[in-house]
Amino acid sequence: MAQPETRVRESLDGPSVYRRARQLIPGGTQLLSKRPEMFLPEQWPAYYRRARGIEVETLDGARYQDFSIMGVGACILGYADPVVDAAVHAAVDAGVNCSLNAPAEVELAELLLALHPWAEQARFARSGGEAMSVAVRIARAATGRDRVAFSGYHGWTDWYLAANLADDDALDGHLMPGLAPAGVPRGLRGTALPFHYNRIEELEAIVARHGDELAAIVMEPQRSHPPAPGYMEAVRTLADRVGAALIFDEITTGFRVRCGGIHLNHAVRPDMAVFAKAMANGYAMAAVIGTRAVMEAAQDSFISSTNWTEALGPAAALATIGRLRDPQVYRHIEAVGGRVQAGWRESAIRHGLAIQVDGLPALSHFHIEEDPDLALTTLFVQEMLRRGYLAFDQFKPSLAHSDTAVDGYLAACDQCFAILAEARSRGDAHARLQGPCARRGFYRLTD
Ligand SMILES: Cc1ncc(COP(=O)(O)O)c(C=O)c1O
Repeated sequence: MAQPETRVRESLDGPSVYRRARQLIPGGTQLLSKRPEMFLPEQWPAYYRRARGIEVETLDGARYQDFSIMGVGACILGYADPVVDAAVHAAVDAGVNCSLNAPAEVELAELLLALHPWAEQARFARSGGEAMSVAVRIARAATGRDRVAFSGYHGWTDWYLAANLADDDALDGHLMPGLAPAGVPRGLRGTALPFHYNRIEELEAIVARHGDELAAIVMEPQRSHPPAPGYMEAVRTLADRVGAALIFDEITTGFRVRCGGIHLNHAVRPDMAVFAKAMANGYAMAAVIGTRAVMEAAQDSFISSTNWTEALGPAAALATIGRLRDPQVYRHIEAVGGRVQAGWRESAIRHGLAIQVDGLPALSHFHIEEDPDLALTTLFVQEMLRRGYLAFDQFKPSLAHSDTAVDGYLAACDQCFAILAEARSRGDAHARLQGPCARRGFYRLTD
């Protein structure tokens, strides 16, 4: 039967396909961080046809080198890594799904537990947010309690967005601006209690008030900054004192700075840890690992999904982790991230542009000071795009970023920082933009 014709099939123009997407798909994309408006409204290419290494060919046939977020941090080996893809092709040939289970998931459980000897059992999902929901459900089942103390971002699901339900409807959404909780049952108000990373007194206050109602303490073990001395130990002690499960969200940090969770760089061990993104180099895969004492509670709750049994995710994860066991991968990623951070700093100083460079080398970012409407940041993206780079103020290095590619990128950055400094001194950043300023955070795309 002939395929029905669609306008998208006929179009080779990313921005026009995206205009259509905004009408057909509420929010335009499935992930906030892939909205073109986040980068360069009306100009960001929006869709890719092909991606290999760091080379991206857009729907329009233009070619760029990706020095931005590399699949939102998932593609740590570079796009279409041949070893991972070969393992996936073999899994496709063997049948992606079946009435029976894929043995690769048992092999993956063994591998993850070998990398994290404190953990004894594993469950699998296919995206970070759903895996976090699995972990929180298990903690609630294990403790028979409802409340969760957390710091940081943990995905789109109800347990987490409940934190943004206020006593008064009008205040909903204020605690974590941009993460709108519409549709989250009001009955969940007060079940997700936020504290700031490295501020143990905030967690102590939650524990003092709700200690015997806490199912879990959820946090990233480390993100931009290391834990303050004694902080992780104090969190562990509080969790133990009240009998709450300590859950480390390693969705972004896991497999980014070493083979396994970043928490392995520190002394404290959680009761559960959650992985996704880099563990499968962009294939859909997520894991919850934990101690038997906590994980066994998964049997007391219904946690079950058809697509959690497909064979490609585990095949991709086994092949990816196999590649990531080579310490040279992380030496390379750290060196590339370090060079880029140093290059940003040097160019900014050379041209008198005030920026702050921050983050682990593997999760690098900079912030242009006094750029409240993001005009300069948007100008950076526009000028880098003209020079053949997908780039903005975050850079997630991969194994595929060669030294030569970094040289070219830093030379382009240097030219662009000069333009930004000039735009700042002349006050004409807006006039130089060919479209609107970037918009960060959550907002409706259609009225
Ligand atoms: C720390 C953390 N937790 C959870 C998530 C959500 O993961 P996903 O987008 O795969 O649902 C993210 C995604 O950026 C994350 O960085």
